[in-house]
Amino acid sequence: MNVLNVERLIEAAFLAKKQSYAPYSNYHVGAALLDSDGEIYGGCNIENAAYSPTNCAERTAFFKAVSEGKREFAAIAIVGDNGERPAPCGVCRQVMSEFCDAGQFKIILARSKTEYEIYTLEELLPQSFSMKQF
Ligand code: THU
Repeated sequence: MNVLNVERLIEAAFLAKKQSYAPYSNYHVGAALLDSDGEIYGGCNIENAAYSPTNCAERTAFFKAVSEGKREFAAIAIVGDNGERPAPCGVCRQVMSEFCDAGQFKIILARSKTEYEIYTLEELLPQSFSMKQF
């Protein structure tokens, strides 16, 4: 991934964050998922008064894309609140592992368009449980 594509994805994540519904934690998250055709799916966290139905931004982006028939993904950019560096929760890492090649899929954790770190899914979820086990 070149720098321009990374910046484009981070920008899309910040745009998606604007739709975040987080009246309980007041912590707003945005994500932008790049599929293998170059299409971008945005996602935000969506909270609930019963707490457990809450959906993270990353899973919102994945479920939007998968529900539209997409199955191959290249990268996801994630942005949190207050310029903090976000980190995907364990459940979201597991959802990523269902659809992504862990050694290839890039996870961009961004504070801003120019301040970010890039990891592979393998680095953030080593030795994961996957359909290879079946
Ligand atoms: N959250 C995300 O959207 N993504 C993450 O990776 C971590 C947490 C959301 C869930 C909840 O709405 C809020 O952040 C506080 O946990």
